[in-house]
Amino acid sequence: MTTLTAAPMGKTPLKGEIAAPGDKSISHRSLMFGALAVGPTRITGLLEGEDVRATARAVAALGAGVERTGEGAWTVQGVGVGGLAEPESALDLGNSGTGARLLMGMVAGCPITATFIGDASLSRRPMSRVIEPLSRMGAVFHGREGGRLPITLTGPADVMPIDYRSPVASAQVKSAVLLAGLNAAGRTTVREPTASRDHTENMLRSFGAAVETRTEDGMNVVTVDGQPELAPQDIAVPGDPSSAAFAAVAALILPGSEVMIRNVGLNPLRAGLFEVLTAMGGEIEVLDRREAGGEPVGDLRVRGGALKGDVAPPANAAAMIDEYPILCVAAALAEGRTEMRGIKELRVKESDRIALMVNGLRAAGVEVEEHEDGMTVTGTGGRPPAGGCEIDASHDHRIAMSFLVLGLACAKPIAVTGAETIATSYPAFTDHFALLGADIQSR
Ligand code: S3P
Repeated sequence: MTTLTAAPMGKTPLKGEIAAPGDKSISHRSLMFGALAVGPTRITGLLEGEDVRATARAVAALGAGVERTGEGAWTVQGVGVGGLAEPESALDLGNSGTGARLLMGMVAGCPITATFIGDASLSRRPMSRVIEPLSRMGAVFHGREGGRLPITLTGPADVMPIDYRSPVASAQVKSAVLLAGLNAAGRTTVREPTASRDHTENMLRSFGAAVETRTEDGMNVVTVDGQPELAPQDIAVPGDPSSAAFAAVAALILPGSEVMIRNVGLNPLRAGLFEVLTAMGGEIEVLDRREAGGEPVGDLRVRGGALKGDVAPPANAAAMIDEYPILCVAAALAEGRTEMRGIKELRVKESDRIALMVNGLRAAGVEVEEHEDGMTVTGTGGRPPAGGCEIDASHDHRIAMSFLVLGLACAKPIAVTGAETIATSYPAFTDHFALLGADIQSR
């Protein structure tokens, strides 16, 4: 087990430039959709974190040809929609909810049997949210109580198209149903209460599928036409805004900092954090807006300075769902209260992120109130919180990185145990922070 310790920066600012690592959501999808196309899909800028590597192994076990041709460069030889082969052993998705749930959708669309396993965190997470709609489409599941991994799934001979109203705004649920629907004879529709990230829709369109998005009765509605032939693509994966968030917040809370983060994905359904931070008075400038892999990207110039507490609007929660832990850290240094509500989903992420942030912030000397659906943090107005605590990452990469960033702004160091989990999404995290002048090391 790795323990990392973040040494307080004192009055030293962060300076320098990094490039955001490849987007995790888009990396998973590049490998998966490449596997469903006919012919070779070439991917550059793929995030080579453990979650995505687990997906690469899984699509290979399902019959696709997967080859790493250079750093971040991968080629996938697809087998076509409906062409997946039965894997010989269990598919181990490690820590990855996205890998497990999207692949369940893909397998449910084919007449094969596969067993899904994962680490302690993934084995606690609810899979009933995908089991329910995929069962309606004809798939048969055997899992543990509450729909937990390990799960064995058999897809039907003919998968049925459905019209599914999802109780949660979840890109993973939406994508699982659409992926199973790809092999159905007919049209499959998913309705979600608010729009979740739309990388599946965007990328399926670029592979040639007919995907329609509309708003109906206030819901986001997506329909896919079944049984298309997907054409292989060249995909340049943009940088991950969820990873860029750590250096951005670190720069904001350390006065005098000036950090450039290049190649940050700015899809509006992902970039909610930057809006909230700007509303809090954070100086974030977007330079050179452009496109990569069909997604908007830009370079972020972030300067440190005073932040003011604010309300993170619940209506925007889906557009920053993975960023609440690091928003808590910005809130901890802001002047006044920051309210984060309407985020009950955080309790079923890689960990119960509400409980872990509340307990960890308190251990570091930050005042925070816990709600069933979120938290309210009272910031110090720039004064260093006490720090001097040890935080268990609890198999949650974003918890680990958030507390290390907080440690940089505290009076005494913060140590994070189980920090190896950072490699699931951001293997270069400590190197990038070292480049910016921060001291985060195992000691
Ligand atoms: C993801 C969707 C989100 C997010 C996760 C990645 C995706 O989960 O939290 O990190 O790539 O589809 P939900 O769809 O469960 O909200």
